[in-house]
Amino acid sequence: MTRTLFTNIGLLVTNDPSVGEGITGEISDAALLVDLGRIAWVGTSAQAEVAGGFDIDHVIDLGGRCLIPGFVDAHSHIVFAGDRTDEFEARMAGRKYSAGGILSTVAATRAASDEELRQSLVGFVDEMHAQGTTTLEIKSGYGLTVHDEERLVRLASEVTDEVTFLGAHVIPLEYRGASGTAARALEDGELGTREDYVALVVGPMLEACAPYAKWIDVFCEEGAFTIDESRQILEAGIGLGLMPRVHASQLSAGEGIRLAVDLGAASVDHCTYLTDLDVAALARSETVATLLPGVEFSTKQPYPDARRLIDAGVTVALATDCNPGSSFTSSMPLCIALAVREMGMTAPEALWSATAGGAQALRREDVGRLTVGSRADLTELAAPSYVHLAYRPGVPLVRRVWKDGELIS
Ligand code: NIG
Ligand code: FE
Repeated sequence: MTRTLFTNIGLLVTNDPSVGEGITGEISDAALLVDLGRIAWVGTSAQAEVAGGFDIDHVIDLGGRCLIPGFVDAHSHIVFAGDRTDEFEARMAGRKYSAGGILSTVAATRAASDEELRQSLVGFVDEMHAQGTTTLEIKSGYGLTVHDEERLVRLASEVTDEVTFLGAHVIPLEYRGASGTAARALEDGELGTREDYVALVVGPMLEACAPYAKWIDVFCEEGAFTIDESRQILEAGIGLGLMPRVHASQLSAGEGIRLAVDLGAASVDHCTYLTDLDVAALARSETVATLLPGVEFSTKQPYPDARRLIDAGVTVALATDCNPGSSFTSSMPLCIALAVREMGMTAPEALWSATAGGAQALRREDVGRLTVGSRADLTELAAPSYVHLAYRPGVPLVRRVWKDGELIS
């Protein structure tokens, strides 16, 4: 590993207000020194020249372009097989999104081999890197058996440290028998109940998946898991050392956001339908509201009200939720464009939420900012400013990407 000076940076986003302008800590005509994969120094090009004595192996001239922290995509579901184009087309023709579509991906995922899943997973990771993402979270949730959920968290752990066990995504078909029976192991071919499935998730499934995961998540929503089931599942995960994050209020308002706050979740995701109580609870907490505008784009729902959250003092992150049902995009630049165009966020707020906000949603201090000591995860834009991500939507503006100081795209 070598010492590299990045110079002639037209606009550098550090996300450190103590070294630059605004919440994004911006420095014009900047330079940045990378040593052993970490940021060693940040300043202006002029200061770098004065410092002159930097012992460096390489100089990378940014030609006046903008350099930002690599995006931190804190919500994705990219270990799966199958395709739901038909469901998307039906939605564009007016059909409503429902959680039930998840089951078709579950069937395809169970039928796929580890190697097939690995190949498609690596393809999505490459796609994300090419669009400027350097840290990503991946959830299980398309297996829904002990064996298949274990496969999904194991495969996810091959490509990221941010693995989330989401056995509580929906109740699988084989557990949709009449309720009321006590939780127990199923006989061959017998239909289980939702109580049986929750018992499976908090018991053998959690035990098999916990060694590969850092986080536990629940889809707390009508058509998925109730508030009581969600609490039980999240508490079981916490008991095994996993940290909670929650899918809530995607399809209607409910108590999921307050449950997440109550359990000290790092993040509550979607937040499309907000009540005053939700906003007040979030504002008093350390829980980040992770907004996923790709979902509203692809399901024709109203966008979440980022302005209301930010004005109330809530920390907001932006993520893709990349999955084959509700949001089949891996593009953080698209999320930024939608947040600025549709959700009342300023460009600096959207950029901050897609980098530092995502890092906070993953409780990471080493990524999402470019300050001395943080990882040299850098995204170079073919533009003088990151505002172009919203101003020039759909244009491939990510030019080069470095992770830990190494060029990855
Ligand atoms: O975050 N909301 C639950 N899970 C995913 C959708 C999964 C699917 O439709 O396959 C989401 O939007
Ligand atoms: Fe999701």
